[in-house]
Amino acid sequence: MTERCHGDTRPPTGPRARTAIVLATAALLAATGAAFLPSTASAGTTLGASAAEKGRYFGTAVAASRLSDNAYTTILNREFNMVTAENEMKMNATEPQQGRFSYGAAEQIVNHARSRGMSVRGHTLAWHSQQPGWMESMSGSALRQAMLNHVTQVATHFRGQVVAWDVVNEAFADGGSGGRRDSNLQRTGNDWIEAAFRAADAADPNAKLCYNDYNTDNWTHAKTQGVYNMVRDFKARGVPIDCVGFQSHFNNNSPYVSNYRTTLSSFAALGVDVQITELDIQGAPANTYRSVVEDCMAVPRCNGITVWGIRDSDSWLASQTPLLFNSNGSKKAAYDAVLAALNNGSAVPTTAPPTSAPPTSVPPTSAPPTSVPPTTTPPPGGGCTATLQDSTRWGDRFNSQVTVSGASNWSVVVAVTPPQKVSATWNGSPSWDSSGNVMTMRSNGSGNVFGFTTMANGNWTRPQVLSCTAS
Ligand code: XIL
Repeated sequence: MTERCHGDTRPPTGPRARTAIVLATAALLAATGAAFLPSTASAGTTLGASAAEKGRYFGTAVAASRLSDNAYTTILNREFNMVTAENEMKMNATEPQQGRFSYGAAEQIVNHARSRGMSVRGHTLAWHSQQPGWMESMSGSALRQAMLNHVTQVATHFRGQVVAWDVVNEAFADGGSGGRRDSNLQRTGNDWIEAAFRAADAADPNAKLCYNDYNTDNWTHAKTQGVYNMVRDFKARGVPIDCVGFQSHFNNNSPYVSNYRTTLSSFAALGVDVQITELDIQGAPANTYRSVVEDCMAVPRCNGITVWGIRDSDSWLASQTPLLFNSNGSKKAAYDAVLAALNNGSAVPTTAPPTSAPPTSVPPTSAPPTSVPPTTTPPPGGGCTATLQDSTRWGDRFNSQVTVSGASNWSVVVAVTPPQKVSATWNGSPSWDSSGNVMTMRSNGSGNVFGFTTMANGNWTRPQVLSCTAS
């Protein structure tokens, strides 16, 4: 069984011929001797921008019903570059009647996110909770079959649109046993989890496949050790698992603990990415939020953090006021602490760019490209200039920074070369043409330097500035 390495430059051979995605190449890069960037301060002004500058993401849970709330979407679109559907991809939402799938609300969220350059985490394919009624009353091989069909159908439907799936959610018991939670799915046989992962793998070979749970933050807890042992066993036997999600709902009963970093790094050492998937902290103490972010930033394979909602009033635990924004949408002290910790944190490891690009399958039909594309465009009468600079580069992607001069309200058009794709942006409001290759970035009050991440998809051509227009 081959290890699931992403960003591997060898031609794909196994059933999981995955393409690299924004989420994760860190362990491979570390394994290939890549250097770690020094911990340099940067100056991102939003959560998503600051995380992206460090090769990571910052996400939130989104409820489709709130997408019509302007105050909500303003914060969503400004701050986050990853989205999880809070309820809309769960089994009861996507298969309300057996064999009849319903994707409308989930697609609303996916489309909102992807049309704005945000990525999507899928949550969740198999879970004992929020099952449709027909499934709750099923058991045995009929249930096993229905669960696998659900995983296959839903993962296939969202193939190419979801960068990571919580394939199985919350399968371990609380308390001291360290064993599995009793559920109708567990009673179909202990191998139900790996069966779900194999079905998801077959349906979407390119999505990262995660196991997700809560109360797995404290390294000394039996539940944490139980999950750890399962992941170790899966890796040893070649079960296709890529990542472990830590919900990290911290409250007085299950508080943040200082060995959290040990937990994250111990799982990462098994050869999986780790992600903080549903973060909220009772009372939102700035210091605790800071510690959580610092712990993630200290672990190269901790490639992203998702908070479970935007404003306190959006939270499933609203009375705990556990989030980064007040109910009126203003930033809380915890927000400032998180932003600072992102900006002070380390970037995920970088790697040298490939020395020779692999040949493209289609030879150029027109004139060969000029050797160095111009980085500065002359002002086309609109009165501004945009200069593109290369920034951090990883095994599968790179950042670019564009500095605008001559105007404070501007609109800059940038083109990437297919199959490149822009996967994150910061300090501007992006829109795309129908090809998805031409991005128009408009100033959004965040200053005159914007940035973006390009997934190379094998092509390392530098993006080109096509125009700068003052408005
Ligand atoms: C919660 C949602 O936030 C609520 O709106 C819903 O009523 C119940 O589920 N662990 C998970 C999430 O994996 O899916 C849960 O989300 C919170 C706990």
